[in-house]
Amino acid sequence: MKIPLVDLVAQYQSIRDEIEQAIQGVLESGVFILGPNVAAFEAEIAAYLGVRYAVGVASGTDALLLTLRAYGVGPGDEVIVPAYTFFATAEVVSQVGATPVFVDIDPRTYCLDVKQLEAKISARTKAIIPVHLYGHPADMAPILELAKKHGLKVIEDNAQALGAEYKGRKTGSLGDAGCLSFFPSKTLGGYGDGGMVVTNDPTLAETVRKLRTHGWRTKYYPEMIGYNSRLDELQAAILRVKLRHLDAWNERRRKIAEQYRTLLAGNGIELPWEAPYAKHVYHLYVIRVRERKAVQDRLKAMGIASAVYYPLPLHLVEPYRDLGYGPGAFPEAERAAAETLAIPLYPEMTPDQIETVASGVRDALVKVESGR
Ligand SMILES: Cc1ncc(COP(=O)(O)O)c(C=O)c1O
Repeated sequence: MKIPLVDLVAQYQSIRDEIEQAIQGVLESGVFILGPNVAAFEAEIAAYLGVRYAVGVASGTDALLLTLRAYGVGPGDEVIVPAYTFFATAEVVSQVGATPVFVDIDPRTYCLDVKQLEAKISARTKAIIPVHLYGHPADMAPILELAKKHGLKVIEDNAQALGAEYKGRKTGSLGDAGCLSFFPSKTLGGYGDGGMVVTNDPTLAETVRKLRTHGWRTKYYPEMIGYNSRLDELQAAILRVKLRHLDAWNERRRKIAEQYRTLLAGNGIELPWEAPYAKHVYHLYVIRVRERKAVQDRLKAMGIASAVYYPLPLHLVEPYRDLGYGPGAFPEAERAAAETLAIPLYPEMTPDQIETVASGVRDALVKVESGR
């Protein structure tokens, strides 16, 4: 039995009729850009998260980029981001001409370590981008408190955690802005790229709406330099279908994580942690193992996929070497980059597949540790 990291075809098969009907509806309408599906999906996401505004854009990266632009972040400004996340979280800061300032992560949640945050705030800091990594919420209360004290914007990178909760409230709805990604493998994934900015701030929503279409409200009358960055009707129609299943899929992810917890306990593997304030949605199920490469090779030989997110912390990627941090600057980010391994977890996994992955992981560990 070959087991992939995610199985988007299995998910499609489970909702095939609904999806095909939605796609056909768009094709027959002849409306492909900023039509009724985008408007309805924006309203549905706003209701789901309990926020006032939602603006569909072309990707999660653009959601972050347009939010920074809308807040006027630019050259000379600093934005605090975790040292361990997907590159886009910091990349967008550089794209607007500002400087990312890294902070180490909490080794249990993989999210930014709030104890180290205040020391990173300077007179140039404009915003903090906490990332709800792997589907686990960052510890938002102290972040929001510090941001308030220093007059900073909090932009939640909720690309990996749609449906997760922090103290009973949905991630993405807690900061000044939340940025969503609908990349296909995300908890709510389209069949292409897509993203969204969510907020309670009418000015931010209005500015992002302008920015996504060439900086204009009235066609051909630009008010600022913008982008062509829209969520398209086909993706919106698909995502509207999938949103109806999101909570059930996330519950299934949590159930599988619970099963893994039982099946993998006590094998010298560090399993994902769920903080008392958190409802984790396990976008990725990430374990820590020593001798990761050897474990991965063993799993591969058994037909079990695994993946490394992310092999480098951001202060060590090539474009950020000139920021001058160097190895040792963020020990927990570096340790996570060296030790973490994602194993298969997706809602459509069968009991057999779950058991096979768990016994494969146990087996791989025993073999690696005994040198066999
Ligand atoms: C943490 C994080 N931020 C931002 C992004 C960017 O989203 P997208 O791929 O939709 O541009 C991703 C997606 O991969 C992500 O995982």
